[in-house]
Amino acid sequence: MNQMTPPPKIEIIPASAPFSEAQRSWLNGFFAGLLSSDGPAPLSAEQGAAVLHGPSGDGDDGEAPWHDQTLPIAERMKLADGRPLRRRMMAAMAQQDCGQCGYNCNDYSDAIVSKAEARLNLCVPGGKETARMLKALNEELEKAPAASADASVTPAVPAAPITAEPGRSRDNPVAATFVSRRLLNKPGSEKETWHIDFDLGGCGLDYVVGDSFGIFARNELGLVDEIIAILGASHTTEVNGKTLRAVLTDDVSLAPAPDSLFELISFITGGAQREKARALAQGEDPDGDAATLDVMAALQKFSGVRPHPEAFVEALEPLQPRLYSISSSHNATPGNLSLTVDCVRYVVGKRKRLGLASTFLAERIKPGDSVKVYVQKAHGFALPQDPKTPIIMIGPGTGIAPFRAFLLDRKATGAPGKNWLFFGHQRSSCDFFYSDELNGLKTSGLLTRLSLAWSRDGDKKFYVQDRMREVGRELWTWLAEGAHLYICGDAKRMAKDVERALVDIVAQFGARTTDEAVSFIGELKKKGRFQQDVY
Ligand SMILES: Cc1cc2nc3c(=O)[nH]c(=O)nc-3n(C[C@H](O)[C@H](O)[C@H](O)COP(=O)(O)OP(=O)(O)OC[C@H]3O[C@@H](n4cnc5c(N)ncnc54)[C@H](O)[C@@H]3O)c2cc1C
Ligand SMILES: NC(=O)c1ccc[n+]([C@@H]2O[C@H](COP(=O)([O-])OP(=O)(O)OC[C@H]3O[C@@H](n4cnc5c(N)ncnc54)[C@H](OP(=O)(O)O)[C@@H]3O)[C@@H](O)[C@H]2O)c1
Repeated sequence: MNQMTPPPKIEIIPASAPFSEAQRSWLNGFFAGLLSSDGPAPLSAEQGAAVLHGPSGDGDDGEAPWHDQTLPIAERMKLADGRPLRRRMMAAMAQQDCGQCGYNCNDYSDAIVSKAEARLNLCVPGGKETARMLKALNEELEKAPAASADASVTPAVPAAPITAEPGRSRDNPVAATFVSRRLLNKPGSEKETWHIDFDLGGCGLDYVVGDSFGIFARNELGLVDEIIAILGASHTTEVNGKTLRAVLTDDVSLAPAPDSLFELISFITGGAQREKARALAQGEDPDGDAATLDVMAALQKFSGVRPHPEAFVEALEPLQPRLYSISSSHNATPGNLSLTVDCVRYVVGKRKRLGLASTFLAERIKPGDSVKVYVQKAHGFALPQDPKTPIIMIGPGTGIAPFRAFLLDRKATGAPGKNWLFFGHQRSSCDFFYSDELNGLKTSGLLTRLSLAWSRDGDKKFYVQDRMREVGRELWTWLAEGAHLYICGDAKRMAKDVERALVDIVAQFGARTTDEAVSFIGELKKKGRFQQDVY
């Protein structure tokens, strides 16, 4: 049995105070953060919402049981049933708080309800399902009499406020220069992950570690030209004062075919084709292929139909930027910015499909080219304010990106805190990103511990959380000493599984029941001691 005394639970707001349990717990965390030696804890989305709305002016209890990126949308909507519109709108979003829309999930929904934001298609991970649900909920909002609309909602504060300052939000990008790319995998790997370098000298942008970089990529010309050919148009056909080729390359998404494209097709065709297009526009799947229909596949499916280029472009979604965790430190290499990008390529039928931004960075852009970019400030993902605080970083695959940045930053600033990195990937021989650099940091003493997990080296899968369980006692000791915990990488499975392992470790080595361990982890989150950057 472990003899270590658990850290005291901080109770600043007495149980008799007129708050719900959730409000009391949040206030305890908030004031504990203010009083801690590390200064105020960063606010989570929920905490931010509580600040915005006060004790729920619309009678909502402020809880968000749907705020779990692993739940399917139907389940999230069920959990939000009967709640105010702003809460149901939040439940429609992908719950990753990834910042791609320029907000977190809570603030994006508040911005729509308060009419500060008119765009309903900004949730990239939520895709068409989220856009459709938001459209339906927005119709409810439009129908609601003004007085009954969510009066409690103050206009939301975007995660990156829409500001005039260039390069600080998706609405005001600047030009950065692409410098170089280098493949991080060695021969034999099943992955294609690139180290990418940008020069920020021309645009003068800076950043802090933990921030992400927004990239406006351009569509592949081969795909653009095939679409122009299917439309029976010419490259030089003019649309909105630009050539059709330029519009299709720079301005619109050619990936999932939007409902509005099927609507357009249904208007200009007839019979069974029209019925099929109409069904697809309503989110039905008459032929079982809806999920595979990008813009080109949609045009091929309705091959006799040739929309007018102007109507066609109008029916498409605007091209969305993609975010990447910054893997360099401005303090270490001012003016330079690095990314660690896994390339998305897959095949549907006979056609190769390309992830837009990852393949743009991996093969289309040339050294010296300009790219439209912005820095997305991290909210609640940062090094501890006290440089002496130990940190534990868990980042398999591209999840290593912000942790490379953390380590380089701590080295550049001479931060004395201990650093422990858990990295994992498929094979030690070919997927150990930045191995020379990490081994060097270990030798120099900056990287106190490096724990590795190779999932495909042995007969059985072995993941970072398996390694964590092996060293659970030491991990608990670091936590008891006040270490901050970070997870970065896959949101769908890895982050949840790692959190489950952490709960088990806290229960076993911190001598707690599972419920107590879950609350312990919850408290760490509230205090800003457990932060995630997952996608
Ligand atoms: C905050 C944040 C940080 C991020 N940091 C990083 C990072 O450091 N490194 C990194 O590599 N990525 C990172 N990402 C992910 C990144 O933003 C992009 O989502 C990713 O690069 C894919 O974008 P893309 O434009 O290349 O692909 P897209 O054009 O967006 O295509 C991806 C889509 O293709 C489909 N798809 C993919 N594979 C298949 C398949 N096998 N079969 C069928 N369909 C498939 C899926 O619908 C998927 O959503 C981050 C995301 C966020 C939100
Ligand atoms: N939006 C996009 O299209 C896009 C683009 C890039 C990345 N991503 C997502 O981002 C994630 C990161 O990709 P990546 O290239 O960095 O690497 P990754 O695919 O996440 O793989 C990194 C390591 O994590 C392992 N892993 C798989 N499941 C795990 C789990 N449940 N718990 C812990 N480890 C697990 C993998 O093992 P095995 O593979 O051997 O199981 C591998 O060793 C991917 O999961 C991917 O879904 C999405």
